[in-house]
Amino acid sequence: MVSMKLDNRFKRQALNILLIGSGGREHALAWKISQSPLLTKLYMLPGNGGTYPLGERLVFEIEDHEQISDFCKAQAIDLVVIGPEAPLVDGLADDLRSQGIATFGPSAAAARLEGSKHFTKKLCSKMDIPTAAYGHFTNPANAHAYVQRQGTPIVIKADGLAAGKGVTIAQTPDEALAAIDNCFNGNFGDAGAEVVVEEFMTGEEASMFFLCDGTTALPFGTAQDHKAVGDGDTGPNTGGMGAYSPAPVLDAAMQQRVLQEIVEPTLRGMEAAGTPFSGVLYAGLIISDSGPKLIEYNVRFGDPECQVLMMRLESDLVPLLHACATGDLANHSAEWSNDAALTVVMAAKGYPGKATTGGFIGGLAGLNSADTHVFHAGTAMQEGMTIATGGRVLNITATGSSVSEAQARAYAAVDKVEWPDGFCRRDIGWRAIEREKTDG
Ligand code: AMP
Ligand code: GLY
Repeated sequence: MVSMKLDNRFKRQALNILLIGSGGREHALAWKISQSPLLTKLYMLPGNGGTYPLGERLVFEIEDHEQISDFCKAQAIDLVVIGPEAPLVDGLADDLRSQGIATFGPSAAAARLEGSKHFTKKLCSKMDIPTAAYGHFTNPANAHAYVQRQGTPIVIKADGLAAGKGVTIAQTPDEALAAIDNCFNGNFGDAGAEVVVEEFMTGEEASMFFLCDGTTALPFGTAQDHKAVGDGDTGPNTGGMGAYSPAPVLDAAMQQRVLQEIVEPTLRGMEAAGTPFSGVLYAGLIISDSGPKLIEYNVRFGDPECQVLMMRLESDLVPLLHACATGDLANHSAEWSNDAALTVVMAAKGYPGKATTGGFIGGLAGLNSADTHVFHAGTAMQEGMTIATGGRVLNITATGSSVSEAQARAYAAVDKVEWPDGFCRRDIGWRAIEREKTDG
């Protein structure tokens, strides 16, 4: 519920909002923001083929921070919402805030929680946050020796941002040594100049999201992703082929442990270091026999996890994002639907390798309803038709009283999409659905 104080303030000040990014995540955020009674006008830099009806499309470069801040001043933008990690790591939030523009998203210093694995591991050690034991290396010989001492399975990670491709779970010493060499040989550019070698943790994987304003963390939903491209979790990893929310493994007690054992100490540590974290903190977790352990942080909403969260969020998103940007989150809470939500990613054939783009997509008209929504990702509008422009192209999203029901609705909609170049996994939600079957 929004506090009265804030309600009154917003009544006087309706908001112009600029949303940065072009993925399915940003379409879902735009969809939710555009339902807010507080919104005056939404601008999107640049948005995608699905966001046209929701906001005005801007076409300048996201790297041009000065142009963005000039635009914000000229158009009296009250809040900038930054979707992807790259502009955050690049300091866009700092540059906008230095011009007095309220911005949802962490500073570059705080975005190191995603941008550097070693940074996060050091913080975990300092704050006693449960995570995998690790070693950090700047040369291959020492990393090789560590692997020889620790044995396998073991996890090798390029330190920096490597588009989700910098992690190898090595089952044998040879694989581990090859993965280390692959990092140091420059295959991930600067991201691989430093390497983290980690203990392999066992347990079920799940994600939990937190809105943060530097001091306060507000739990903001749970989800499970499907990283592998193929059914049965086979084939190469992708940005995510589907997701559902909530994640059954993160029950209320486990969520409380994640908040108290992992996220609150993180915010305290960041604040103490003079780099408070604001924005959304996405905790990738393993739920082990001894409790939750941190795999990694992202400093943004997950894509496609955001799509399922937005389908379930009943509160107005705008005051929540604004409160993160202005340090007022302690006065807020978030209300969620009890329904499950599930999203199926439709990708262009070839993804995650070279994808077949340019094809027309039909059958989309009439798919949106009270329980189903098509979020666009890599699409553009061409002469009134939707065309595929990227790897992950559509997120067919549905709600239901169970994950099974949401899945049935999502695939019923998928089957109406006319797009010969597209494919999707047919088993999104399998883990939760098996649990629903067992639990009756
Ligand atoms: P990351 O890019 O750090 O999220 O890692 C990619 C995936 O590798 C994660 O989603 C996990 O499935 C897996 N993973 C990463 N680190 C570990 C670890 N220490 N133990 C087990 N699995 C891991
Ligand atoms: N779906 C995984 C991510 O957004 O990083």
